[in-house]
Amino acid sequence: MGAKKIFNTDKRIRLGIWGLGRGSVFIKAAKELNIDVVAGCDFNDEIRERFQKECPDAKVTADENEFLSNKEMDAVLVATFFTSHAEHAIRALNAGYHVMSEVTSFFTPAEGVRLVEAVERSGKIYNLLENYPFTKENMYLAKLWKDGFFGEFQYGEFEYLHECRELCYRYCVLPDFPPITPGYTVHSWRSWLDFHYYCTHSLGPVMQITGLRPERITAFPEKVELPGYIPGSGMSKPCPSLIQMSNGGVMRNLCGATTADYHMSKRIWGTRASAESFEGNLYLRLGATGGSMKTPVQPEWPELGDLADSTGHGGGDFWELYYFARQVLTGEKAPWDIYSACDVTLAGIMAVRSHENNGAPMEIPDFRKPEVRDRYRNDNGRMVQPFDPAKVFPEGHDKEKTSDFTRLMAKIQENSVILRKAMDGASVYEQIREKETRLDVITLLNKTLEVLPELYSDRTKASALVSLYPESPAAKALTGIMTLSEPETLESQDILKQKIEKTMTSLLK
Ligand SMILES: NC(=O)c1ccc[n+]([C@@H]2O[C@H](COP(=O)([O-])OP(=O)(O)OC[C@H]3O[C@@H](n4cnc5c(N)ncnc54)[C@H](O)[C@@H]3O)[C@@H](O)[C@H]2O)c1
Repeated sequence: MGAKKIFNTDKRIRLGIWGLGRGSVFIKAAKELNIDVVAGCDFNDEIRERFQKECPDAKVTADENEFLSNKEMDAVLVATFFTSHAEHAIRALNAGYHVMSEVTSFFTPAEGVRLVEAVERSGKIYNLLENYPFTKENMYLAKLWKDGFFGEFQYGEFEYLHECRELCYRYCVLPDFPPITPGYTVHSWRSWLDFHYYCTHSLGPVMQITGLRPERITAFPEKVELPGYIPGSGMSKPCPSLIQMSNGGVMRNLCGATTADYHMSKRIWGTRASAESFEGNLYLRLGATGGSMKTPVQPEWPELGDLADSTGHGGGDFWELYYFARQVLTGEKAPWDIYSACDVTLAGIMAVRSHENNGAPMEIPDFRKPEVRDRYRNDNGRMVQPFDPAKVFPEGHDKEKTSDFTRLMAKIQENSVILRKAMDGASVYEQIREKETRLDVITLLNKTLEVLPELYSDRTKASALVSLYPESPAAKALTGIMTLSEPETLESQDILKQKIEKTMTSLLK
């Protein structure tokens, strides 16, 4: 990296990053793209220190007013909490900076109207940082689509399933994922957000591949939650929706949490050809008929793909930064302007409204039109937050005891997952086809023996905490996470240990 000049100019863009967890991911790609990271802002001390080590010359602060008065900055990348992006983007635009914003752009329609109008008033560039359309596979499909290969969009199924239970209790942007502190609180938005809001990684690719906008959405309420979340959490379940696109075609957008993550599974049908991809294997269907020929293909990057490969998220993080820099330096428009950012963000907001109304179809308003915006100008509706992440124990709780809560949740989950894989693997051992996977089961049974003492000890501590505050949301999450290691741990540790040893002996025969 580094030798090739990407833009035909020596002009540099001076960038400040606001929110240095996810925000720090962009430092590496920035260097290649005429972007100097000159400032950073985060109120978490540990995260600021880590950022300062990566960018020793940057001006780092916990104070957002100081950050936004930096005269040496041209642009701000907003990667703060999910629900703060609009407020922070508007402040940055009003202070005279170009803005890149992490997904999604805003949390309520009224915020969306304010944001669009702030962008229009400022004359500055605004880009949404939705990265999934810019994987090698999706960029290749987009190119074919533009060339007319697929004909007209008829139907699509895209998935972003990401089970984030442990991120309710651990801080994923710090090394080794430490439990969230104080330990009697849970993550500020990952613990409760309705996953429909986070619809962009699966809808975004369909929009960018086909060039269509979403117009209507319907989502049935899903009522079955995975155990171990705080009850009522919108992150604890699959969140499918059906979306009518602007040409009349339909897509099924599946995001949410299940017992199997799929980050990029897809099927997409055009009137001349179609494509499907499962775990990185892309097939095209050729011949414009039901019995079309199924052909595996190796997608190719456009120019600069090697550079993209060397940064995060399958190259997507590189491309979104590239398009922004290109627009600032050359004027050529980036894919995610404020209006398409509104389309994808509003789809999530309207999906939440649809399932709150038993699946009733909802319009996805087009904020390009001022008269449409007027209808949403005062619409501050947002999901009813099921609990306060800072108050999952009752008022006056014993902090010495409750401080252990996030560690218990994180550790019981970690060790229960080992036990579950081992025991469930043993129960279908004879039918497992690959020899390596059978060996994995034996390794996991061994590993289970190692973690049993910690698991039993944590279960005892968790039960004591549940008895102290049995009606609290925290107690319900603890009770839920403990079910993952049951029924096995309802036996004494010695008996379970003997059973596992016996199982291993019989499987190895
Ligand atoms: N596109 C992707 O693939 C992707 C991946 C991860 C996260 N994200 C998005 O990035 C955003 C940040 O996520 P994250 O993983 O870093 O977790 P996070 O939301 O927990 O972290 C936000 C960071 O911003 C800081 N912060 C929040 N408000 C602040 C303020 N007013 N002033 C100073 N600092 C503030 C917090 O201390 C924290 O370090 C989220 O909105 C998330 O949706 C996107």
